[in-house]
Amino acid sequence: MEDLIQRAAEDLIKARYRIALTGAGISTESGIPDFRGPDGIWTKNPEAEMKAYELYNQFKADPKGYWEERLDPQGSISRLFSILGVIGEAQPNPGHHALAELEKMGILNCIITQNVDGLHQKAGSKNVIEYHGGINKFRCMVCNRRFGKDELNLEKIKMEGKLPPYCQCGGVIKDDGVFFGEPIPSDVLGRSQKEAWKCDLMLICGTSAVVYPFASLPEMANPATTIIEINAEPTPLTGRISDYLIQGKTGEILPKIAERVKKI
Ligand code: APR
Repeated sequence: MEDLIQRAAEDLIKARYRIALTGAGISTESGIPDFRGPDGIWTKNPEAEMKAYELYNQFKADPKGYWEERLDPQGSISRLFSILGVIGEAQPNPGHHALAELEKMGILNCIITQNVDGLHQKAGSKNVIEYHGGINKFRCMVCNRRFGKDELNLEKIKMEGKLPPYCQCGGVIKDDGVFFGEPIPSDVLGRSQKEAWKCDLMLICGTSAVVYPFASLPEMANPATTIIEINAEPTPLTGRISDYLIQGKTGEILPKIAERVKKI
């Protein structure tokens, strides 16, 4: 393990443009369960996963009905969102802080995360692409404009019988989080692909790499790109797309890598 940590630090120094791809695994040490691990949200709540797969079609078919159910505290959508409720109180862990530090050192150029928890930004990372959107945000389905929680008074809109909420452009507004089956917003997709093509080193941290199109980012990287996985278990990328896997906890391994980079 120590050799691989030293190798990763040297590879980071040698590289020219380095990005990190992260998933739910980097936030488990912050108390947020992942999805498909032994204590994963979907592993523990298969019915919630079923509901999550239905959401986008439900929204498309009847945005008004979707929002009425979404704002009903007893509704199944609220129950699903409540499972994600732990996110609100969570704080970044040493894994998030190590990536923020690598950015501050001018080593890490960008983070593309599947996580909606905002913990990279809380840790101080600046250049973060939220591939699956962010909690506490809303998005226009036409112009992609994002709205903060305090920019949209949903209860007032509901009271006035004006659901679903609309953007000035006339587009319907939805939670910013990307639902299963929903296309990745074009601005996010474009930026992410550019970063994947541009980099010559990719750190992949805490993801099972089974959800597409995110899992295609390592596949579209330049063949000369060094791809390093840091994960508790091997993934479909291991030995196929990635150059090596450092198997273990991101909250323990990433700080060690940052320390080594500082020493080199
Ligand atoms: N350190 C390293 N790896 C970890 C840690 C940890 N502390 N904790 C868990 N892991 C690993 C698990 O072993 C698993 O391989 O992280 C991976 C998490 O995988 P998933 O639960 O599938 O999460 P993720 O890959 O982010 O899921 C992708 O699926 O459900 C959707 O939209 C949701 O963004 C999510 C997407």
